[in-house]
Amino acid sequence: MPDSPTLIQPAQSAGIAAALTAGLPHDLPAAITALKTQMNAVILAHYYQDGEIQDLADYVGDSLDLSRKAAATDADVIVFCGVRFMAEVAKILSPQRLVLLPDLRAGCSLESSCPPDQFRAFRAAHPDHIAVTYINCSAEVKAMSDVIVTSSNAVAIVNQLPADKPILFAPDRHLGSWVARQTGRQLTLWPGSCIVHLQFSERELVQLRVRHPGAEVLAHPECPEEILAYADFIGSTAQLLARVKASPADTIIIATESHILHQMRKAAPDKTLIGAPGVDGSCSCNNCPYMAMNTLEKLYRCMLSRSPRIELPEPLRLAAAKPLERMLAMSAAIDPTALSRKD
Ligand code: 13P
Ligand code: SF4
Repeated sequence: MPDSPTLIQPAQSAGIAAALTAGLPHDLPAAITALKTQMNAVILAHYYQDGEIQDLADYVGDSLDLSRKAAATDADVIVFCGVRFMAEVAKILSPQRLVLLPDLRAGCSLESSCPPDQFRAFRAAHPDHIAVTYINCSAEVKAMSDVIVTSSNAVAIVNQLPADKPILFAPDRHLGSWVARQTGRQLTLWPGSCIVHLQFSERELVQLRVRHPGAEVLAHPECPEEILAYADFIGSTAQLLARVKASPADTIIIATESHILHQMRKAAPDKTLIGAPGVDGSCSCNNCPYMAMNTLEKLYRCMLSRSPRIELPEPLRLAAAKPLERMLAMSAAIDPTALSRKD
């Protein structure tokens, strides 16, 4: 096993200890790239990571895409630049790999809104319901769910569920409401939300549209309904990026976490891309504080020390793998870059 401590020779281990206490290399990106080759690692990054991390990654993607990449990789080590639930998914789907996360404190407001005990009680109160759960949750909550969804495939998966079965949807009530509107199904919603997507201001968005009358508005379905009502296009991060490339508009307003603009600007350098404003009129409040916990320095140190690593008890991993594998099977035909419709 590549992560076995017995394979680290004393001289090597002294070298790592010395490197960890020494100052940082002058050229951090080059040092990270060299470590990646030495470790036979793959770096997976979400679109909400800092641009410098996205630029170093082997793959940048949305939650569905990154789950597929983690499941399919033959690298010995997965270095996950995203939040903890995403790295847990990588470990659940690829248990034989060493999975590293630069900062284990990188949580998610949706995950913390849905403690496993309370979710267990929610399920117990609705024994005849199918539990459809957004991937932004803990491994424990996944293990109690029937099927996991992401914002790329939630509508398609709910559309495949038996019409006579009632459905629970946790933990994002805004995504759940949007899925209900798209599918015509009634969903019993868990009352969670994303602290980042709650920041957009309807009033500032309306004013911005008045200043840019030809602009197209794109929004992530974690936004509340009053923001989605102004969107010309709604989709996951990968779908929003695809829309920026495909859109005929010269000016595009984007209502999601601001770091995705890094890829959008690369993909459409001639378009004017504007982050949707918060109440202060800027989009600076729409940065995810959890995603920001990963830095280039922590990425380097975690690769050097092969920690922090994601570990899960095997019974929990096996139980959480079932609804995740069901998700992958039910959405195998879905390309996250395919365009979704306006609400
Ligand atoms: P997607 O990248 O799957 O659209 O998810 C967004 C998100 O909130 C990740 O935390
Ligand atoms: Fe969680 Fe929101 Fe951050 Fe995504 S952007 S990780 S949903 S807090």
